[in-house]
Amino acid sequence: TGTHGTGPFIAAIDQGTTSSRCIVFDKDGRIVSVDQKEHEQIFPKPGWVEHDATEIWENVQEVVAGAIVKAGITSADVKAIGITNQRETTLLWDKNTGEPVHNALVWQDTRTDALCKELGRNVGQDRFRRETGLPLASYFAGPKVRWLLDNVEGLRERAERGDILFGTMDSWVIWNLTGGTDGGVHVTDVTNASRTLLMNLHRMEWDEKILSSIGIPAEVLPEIRSSAEVYGHAKGGILDGVPVASALGDQQAALFGQTCFAEGEAKSTYGTGTFMLMNTGGTPVNSYNGLLTTVGYQIGDKPPVYALEGSIAVTGSLVQWMRDQMGLIKSAAEIETLASSVEDNGGAYFVPAFSGLFAPYWRPDARGVITGLTRYVTKAHIARAVLEATAWQTREISDAMTKDSGVELTALKVDGGMTSNNLLMQTLADFLDAPVVRPMVAETTCLGAAYAAGLAVGFWPDTDALRANWRRAAEWTPRMDADTRAREYKSWLKAVERTMGWVE
Ligand code: G3P
Repeated sequence: TGTHGTGPFIAAIDQGTTSSRCIVFDKDGRIVSVDQKEHEQIFPKPGWVEHDATEIWENVQEVVAGAIVKAGITSADVKAIGITNQRETTLLWDKNTGEPVHNALVWQDTRTDALCKELGRNVGQDRFRRETGLPLASYFAGPKVRWLLDNVEGLRERAERGDILFGTMDSWVIWNLTGGTDGGVHVTDVTNASRTLLMNLHRMEWDEKILSSIGIPAEVLPEIRSSAEVYGHAKGGILDGVPVASALGDQQAALFGQTCFAEGEAKSTYGTGTFMLMNTGGTPVNSYNGLLTTVGYQIGDKPPVYALEGSIAVTGSLVQWMRDQMGLIKSAAEIETLASSVEDNGGAYFVPAFSGLFAPYWRPDARGVITGLTRYVTKAHIARAVLEATAWQTREISDAMTKDSGVELTALKVDGGMTSNNLLMQTLADFLDAPVVRPMVAETTCLGAAYAAGLAVGFWPDTDALRANWRRAAEWTPRMDADTRAREYKSWLKAVERTMGWVE
């Protein structure tokens, strides 16, 4: 067995936007082994983003095997498998062959903008907000399903005949893991379902009225289950026979992994995008400031716990864009070195509205801008503006959370890949005017999925046992003076205005 105790263990699979990974955890919530593999990002047209779901399933199998082999264990040592995933990314596949009917439409994909506008005609973007907690936006899965049914030839007939299954990536992974065409279970959990625009948030059921308004046949839908229960057992593969015992959207999993189990506790995860979630307890809190109302988690037959969410579409992916599309840096880590070579942004502001603006604006007509350019500005200033964009966007979300919840932010728990960037974390503390804290295990997404699966099979007794595992690794405290903060925030907000109304 691995170096961290003798087991038994929980394996968590994170099917993310840019990669799939598997992490094996021990009882103290420590990482025993990790394996990870990136998949292709497919951009067929401006604003369109797709993934090859077959490639993703192959990668998932590979990283599961990789992590188990690296840990030096066998399926007998693994008590449960937990699943977490990029949310909203939408797939339809043929249940008889297991073949996807089209590439998956990724959450960042904006092709359903016009459809969403049409669905909101005369009624507005908040047409389904009371039932679903969400505005009508291309971000969510429901309109993507409709687009596929309208655009893949013959698909609607096949769907109505009952040959086609819909799922977000949790459903796709679980269906394949539990046997696929040979008896795979077709389920999703309440957190993933809460991102479809199709689930009633109060009843935790598919909403028939919305299904017929958007035009989606009920035959394609997975069964909605809690986030922590045994859905089935792995069939074939290295973990053959192990219970599949949790599913949570990645952001909800991070909330869980950060042990934000009490009302008012919040976390922010810095990945491709950034997502701040605050636990609001047993009642769904309506947002009047551009946040989403969503399901935080549900443990077995316990009542669901809700959350308020601020979603930012582009943060880490802006750094990738600087690397891959602009060639201004060679590695993602280099952004920090480059940005640190200057004192400030040199007057430049970068608003990365590549997929329109998400929270708190929800403006599909926005596109990215760099403002304040003069002959003085260097690529180092732009690098700085890139990092500041992430921090300012977080500040806007935290302001909205304070307004909606009445709770002032006292400290922010952070996680995700970008938190290894010290300059970014310091900037964040400066812009928020609040301390920023990072836990020992920064892989909170996988950890949350492991925790939920472990609770489902009795590996951990209760959430108190999980809380005891949370340890602080680093903390950044604000150093910026109030005047500078106020002046800079004003300039940022001016730059944000410049993004709007670009697309008709
Ligand atoms: O809502 C999208 C979110 O779940 C994606 O997360 O970490 O894969 O970028 P990530």
